[in-house]
Amino acid sequence: MKKHIKNNVNWIGYIDWELESFHGDDYSIMNGSSQNAYLIQEEKTVLIDTVWTPHRFDFVDNLKKEIDLNKIDFIIANHGESDHSGSLTALMAEIPNIPIYCTENAVKSIEGQYGKRGWNFHVVKTGDSVDIGNNKKLVFLEMRMLHWPDSMATYMTQDNILFSNDAFGQHYAVEELFNDKANQCLLYKEAIKYFTNILNPFAPILTKKLAEIENLNLPIDIIAPSHGAIWRDNPMQIVEKYGIWADAYKEDQVTVAYDTMWEGTKKIAHEIAEEISNQSPDTVVKVFNIATADKNEIMTEIFKSKAIAVGSPTVSNSILSSVAGWIEFLKQLKFKNKKAAAFGCYGWSGESVKILQEKLSDAGFDVISENVRSMWNPNDDDFQNIPKLVENLLLD
Ligand code: FEO
Repeated sequence: MKKHIKNNVNWIGYIDWELESFHGDDYSIMNGSSQNAYLIQEEKTVLIDTVWTPHRFDFVDNLKKEIDLNKIDFIIANHGESDHSGSLTALMAEIPNIPIYCTENAVKSIEGQYGKRGWNFHVVKTGDSVDIGNNKKLVFLEMRMLHWPDSMATYMTQDNILFSNDAFGQHYAVEELFNDKANQCLLYKEAIKYFTNILNPFAPILTKKLAEIENLNLPIDIIAPSHGAIWRDNPMQIVEKYGIWADAYKEDQVTVAYDTMWEGTKKIAHEIAEEISNQSPDTVVKVFNIATADKNEIMTEIFKSKAIAVGSPTVSNSILSSVAGWIEFLKQLKFKNKKAAAFGCYGWSGESVKILQEKLSDAGFDVISENVRSMWNPNDDDFQNIPKLVENLLLD
């Protein structure tokens, strides 16, 4: 069913309360999500984006209940990823000649995924626009690498709606659609998780794009992303947050993350956490077992942190595979301006701390030399190193 957004603009997407993961299993979904598509019915009828492939037939059926598909003048594909383009095959089977407005890269992406079907693509660039009647226009704004090469936003004049696609979205199911109706804690929890895990690698590009949007001086009454709540109450609040988050963000927080074989490395993790609280009672401390905690949630806490401590015991001259895979993800997220320390137990060869230090440095962290490297079970002698380690970790 469609839901009203403003004047002749309606939402016609899919709210997925049961979704548990996204991007395969790479992104955990804790509070549902949505794929937001929009129907504009001015003198021209325009569909902005579609929904994910598994819901394509329901999407087309819903659309048919609202309009005669032949009345659609054109489709805008802001982004070729299948959560937004996945219903095109079902839709275009019904209206094969309808124009699709998108970037040049989106043509490659859509044809790459669904094959060359002879669809009527109209390639657009930043600043191009199309009249939709009633003195209203849709203006296109390329959002390259936010977060795919083909990403684009569309701005509707007069109604002042920015259809931002993935930017400013959250994986969060809000049946009432709007940010003022959403639980504010969850809204921001999901917005920062989305930023950390999907957009942070592109933070420098985002900073430039935010400046570009600001310089356009467009009045923005609504930001309508392709996932989660639509920002109608003070929509610029999320733009301001993105500006802050994209600038090497950190709070007074330290995150300790580890995996353990026989609880020794775990013991060190908790000693470090306690010492942080001893030395700096106001600092927020989070402790996670990498093997059992949700990796996207840990990364979100690391995004908020000014420093981290990472632990693994030595196994077969290396680190635990859980930690190795996790550090690869940590590197992908391109965090900046954060310190790191390493710790771990060993029985004989004891390479884990050195390997962790190298990998954390390679992931862009400022690694301190102080560490805890404990043979067999950690004891008071090993813990003597912790105050110095924490002191350095907390130093600005
Ligand atoms: Fe929501 Fe990049 O797709």
